[in-house]
Amino acid sequence: MAKIAYFIGNWKMNHGISEARSYFERFLPEISKVDLSRKVVGIAPPFTSLAFARKLTEGSPVKLCAQNACFAEKGAYTGEVSPLMLKELGVEYVILGHSERRHIFGETNELIKKRVKGVYQAGLTPILCVGETLEERRLGNTFLVVSEQLKQGLSELEKVEEGRLIIAYEPVWAIGTGVNATPEQAEEVHSFLRDLLASMYGKELAQAIPILYGGSVTPENIADLIKEPNVDGVLVGGASLDPEKFLKIVSVAI
Ligand code: 13P
Repeated sequence: MAKIAYFIGNWKMNHGISEARSYFERFLPEISKVDLSRKVVGIAPPFTSLAFARKLTEGSPVKLCAQNACFAEKGAYTGEVSPLMLKELGVEYVILGHSERRHIFGETNELIKKRVKGVYQAGLTPILCVGETLEERRLGNTFLVVSEQLKQGLSELEKVEEGRLIIAYEPVWAIGTGVNATPEQAEEVHSFLRDLLASMYGKELAQAIPILYGGSVTPENIADLIKEPNVDGVLVGGASLDPEKFLKIVSVAI
């Protein structure tokens, strides 16, 4: 079966509305020239740019993504954003458990699994991020860490339907460092995650759950990474902030 590849740009805390406007002015005319018959392209702007990004991208192939979401639909959760509010804006995918949420803001597997459930129940597709630190890798604990994050992150989901879940492997040591995992390192963890998903949901469904790689993806390394059989796409930080660089990444042959 021909592979569908995902290219999600995570802007993190960058590009407010005026920068978002100039970004999309450059990005949208070009993306319409790329053959997207087997590709999904998404951008996760900061919350304050989401509504504006929706207006600009309406009618384009670009899917709108959010960088986090609350587990609850509404209520007394100061500083949080409801998945239903995101849905109302036209968001389709929500990044959850990103390493910056885990390591800078102290989000735990306990909290992340609730967010995954809330987002899933709202009808949005969670992109659950997992990944080990350099220390954990050096200690030989990579598989232990990512399997715990995966199993716990998904533990509140009663069922998973095809097309309703994405996993992203983002080794912490590769994020924003310029040191990407080698294609072999990425494939090793992705195939481990695939087997784990197969043990949870069966082989067929596991095969249909996209597993994306994230961490210093660039126009230079995308071709080698995307060739790996279990790398179904990429989650791009720094390089997605530049429309030309992100276009080059999206344009890779698959
Ligand atoms: P970089 O591409 O800047 O390393 O960031 C990766 C990432 O965290 C995407 O979510």
